[in-house]
Amino acid sequence: MSKQEVIICHNLEENLNKAINQCPHDKLFVLADEHTRELCIPVVSEFDCIKNAHFIYIGAEDVHKNLETLAYVWKELGDKGASRHSLLINLGGGMVTDLGGFAASTFKRGIKYINIPTTLLAMVDASVGGKTGINFNGLKNEIGVFSPAESVLIDANFLKSLDIRNLLSGYAEMLKHGLISTHDHWIELLKFDFNNIDYKVLQTLVGKSVQIKEDIVEQDPFERGIRKALNLGHTVGHAFESLALETQHPILHGYAVAWGIVCELYFSHIKTGFPKDKLRQTILFVKEHYGVMPFNCKQYERLYEFMKHDKKNSAGIINFTLLTEIGNIQINQSASKDEIFEMLDFYHESMGCLLYTSPSPRDLSTS
Ligand code: GLY
Repeated sequence: MSKQEVIICHNLEENLNKAINQCPHDKLFVLADEHTRELCIPVVSEFDCIKNAHFIYIGAEDVHKNLETLAYVWKELGDKGASRHSLLINLGGGMVTDLGGFAASTFKRGIKYINIPTTLLAMVDASVGGKTGINFNGLKNEIGVFSPAESVLIDANFLKSLDIRNLLSGYAEMLKHGLISTHDHWIELLKFDFNNIDYKVLQTLVGKSVQIKEDIVEQDPFERGIRKALNLGHTVGHAFESLALETQHPILHGYAVAWGIVCELYFSHIKTGFPKDKLRQTILFVKEHYGVMPFNCKQYERLYEFMKHDKKNSAGIINFTLLTEIGNIQINQSASKDEIFEMLDFYHESMGCLLYTSPSPRDLSTS
């Protein structure tokens, strides 16, 4: 898989102009959803480099990340005269970059595309690393291909229009990148002040976070080995997300990952010797910023079922990524049902989760 260029922008127009010029094309298309049409298209539509572009708009949120929307994008590309030499720019969160990347990678057997992620989650995770796709048959990201963007342009100015919950959702992936990289980076992530957000500092942290992901993806683009490090927190996190969806209390992906990290660091502590003080510090950070996931012991069985059906498993064995230390990764770890139930007990005891106590943006800004 070829390597994409990731640019931390100081002047989006200049960077975009350069990225477009690096991709000779006949026609230019911009894909956005309803949210980015309102909040982000006004920022870019005045740029000279896209003044002749055709705009395609789709519905926002995960519910639109489906075959119907994909077919609409293919049709729009076709109807507006896109050829194999056209270029698509995806402007939006992970839903737009995933679906747009898949549309581009399959239209006429593949056209080039550029990602401009506008949410923190998309900046540090979805838009980087070449995973594209849609949900299908009730399953998330069931259909897709590995196909990297030509360039990913990251401009932290877009984050100013993001609410605190979506910011924290993306930040959970950054916390994960801290845990799988270095002690210093993990510490600076724990220190970031969400009551007084400094977007310059955030941009620097985002740059480091993206670099960590890129380094891993470069070593293992198709997730056969070390890329599984990026799954830390996700085996339990996905189960939390599925349970929340099933009980009609959907949660943001990053919140599920933050809570999953607590569980999987506990496993890291008991199975691979991850230090107790670092487990405790991470739990405090997660509890303070994300609150707790509400579930009771009657739901352990269901959570276990969700973990058993995780697509990262092989031969029916639940697959975890654990740490022996910050930056010291152990992939392909497993756990028994009893151990998983003990881990959920630990989560209850350390987080206290009889009630749903996720802090509201107001709580965070005034605390
Ligand atoms: N989101 C994890 C990965 O890109 O591998």
